[in-house]
Amino acid sequence: MTKKMTITKILNSKGERPLVMLTAYDALFAKLFEQSVDILLVGDSLNMSFAGQEDTLSATLNQMIYHANAVCKGAPSSFVICDMPFGTYNSKKQALQNATKIFQNTKVDAVKLEGDASKAGIVKHLTSHGIAVCGHIGLLPQSVRSEGGYKVKGKDEKSALSLMEDARELQNAGAFCIVIEGVKADVATKVAQDIDIPIVGIGAGCGVDGQVLVYSDMLGLFEEFTPKFVKKYLNGAELIKDAVRQYAEEVASGIFPSQEYSY
Ligand code: KIV
Repeated sequence: MTKKMTITKILNSKGERPLVMLTAYDALFAKLFEQSVDILLVGDSLNMSFAGQEDTLSATLNQMIYHANAVCKGAPSSFVICDMPFGTYNSKKQALQNATKIFQNTKVDAVKLEGDASKAGIVKHLTSHGIAVCGHIGLLPQSVRSEGGYKVKGKDEKSALSLMEDARELQNAGAFCIVIEGVKADVATKVAQDIDIPIVGIGAGCGVDGQVLVYSDMLGLFEEFTPKFVKKYLNGAELIKDAVRQYAEEVASGIFPSQEYSY
């Protein structure tokens, strides 16, 4: 099946229309999202929302490959990006080995890795070996332990200048797109204005070239905490709990299964 989006279309969207990106972790949901979004991201956030862990750091390469396969199967016409998990791209050699493993074992179109300008060498190594790379700058969830929490970036001039430098270096290294997370809106807007490739924001305001959200947040399924930037488009957790409560009550009282649901 041909893909709705390609890297060329993603690059050409800049200045034309905002890109819509959403995470997906399985075939069921990927299929539901396929029609409406441009890009599905198999984010390592699945380690929190899907696997119940406190942060993304314990996500493994095999776990990402498993979920990426499910997403590609469920949404064969979607452009799919797979996160490289923590600790899998510390050197050029390791990054290429692991990104190659993702490409060989799934049908994803690109990988995403977190990091500032210091990761440009790794991005260049991957792109020069045929691996399409999406960067991820600003608040980096994989750095939550070393930074002691989730810290918004771009609050002062030094931080704003670093973000600009990060985006420029990743672009020069061949990244086709950059996710910018948890950054003051005016700074993210400036980055998007100064960089030629699409800058997709999450918690980075409306002046960027597209938006990405974690689906379990925007559908109101993840109840542990809700970041300020998340708009809940559905009260998913409440709806599901109500439905399951009703099912349990009907089983307990003998209402289900009635004649209608019996052979
Ligand atoms: O893992 C993820 O879901 C992400 C998004 C927060 C962009 O990287």
